[in-house]
Amino acid sequence: MNKRNHTVRLLLITMLIAVFALAGCAKNDATSLTVEAPLKTGIIGAMAEEVDLLKHLVKNAKATSIAGMEFYEGILDDKNVVIVKCGIGKVNAGTCAQLLINVFGVKRIINTGVAGSLDAKIDIGDIVVSTDAVQHDFDLTPLGYAPGELDGIGSPSLPADAHMRESAVKAVRHSSPEIHVFEGRVCTGDQFISSKEQKKAIVAKFGGLCCEMEGGAIAQICCQNKIPFVIIRAISDKADGFAEMSYAEFMQTAARRCAAITRHMISQY
Ligand code: ADE
Repeated sequence: MNKRNHTVRLLLITMLIAVFALAGCAKNDATSLTVEAPLKTGIIGAMAEEVDLLKHLVKNAKATSIAGMEFYEGILDDKNVVIVKCGIGKVNAGTCAQLLINVFGVKRIINTGVAGSLDAKIDIGDIVVSTDAVQHDFDLTPLGYAPGELDGIGSPSLPADAHMRESAVKAVRHSSPEIHVFEGRVCTGDQFISSKEQKKAIVAKFGGLCCEMEGGAIAQICCQNKIPFVIIRAISDKADGFAEMSYAEFMQTAARRCAAITRHMISQY
């Protein structure tokens, strides 16, 4: 009888331990679910048209205005996003990226918009996904730095995130299968490139597939904050003597194309 009692007691203790262990696991699972919840993505558009297209799709949107920029925070295809048009140029773009990180807590940034082609094989309407970005107008060479090398970073090259690159290329292939997509360097500077001479000078120093005015600044802020980024650009012109005309004509189509790619990319997160 005593022996039986002892066995029953042992059985009860074992069951209790198992119950507590399971409860612990469940708690851990709940914690890891919280940690692995979809991360908030910042989407910086250079064009109002493009931001507007995405903004209209955002649910529970809340608008906040800071430094002359409207940040639209909400849900796009069940994912947390903050969409913003940063305005033209590196100062606007860098400020915008830092605000997205500090004020809105985004954990990755997508930058889309138009760009001028730097490579004869890349035509108007094609898409460039960044492998890296450089700031072609940043010049500390008289102080012994390499062309475009940023102080404190040690290299001109700001590498894009491998997973975001992959999902951007997949998104182009899914949303616009007829369009050519190229992966390569994006060259950023505070100039609209509209002559063969300017274009040649950039290519001679940095190579690169396209030029634009924001991506490299966003890339710098992302690198300094250890936040992954990717730049997706639709080619609007060839950065030559016809660039202004071509840019004006192609903007709307480019905006639609970029918005579709970005949306597909977000839906896959
Ligand atoms: N964005 C679109 N085209 C551009 C160009 N030619 N130069 C700089 N930024 C651009």
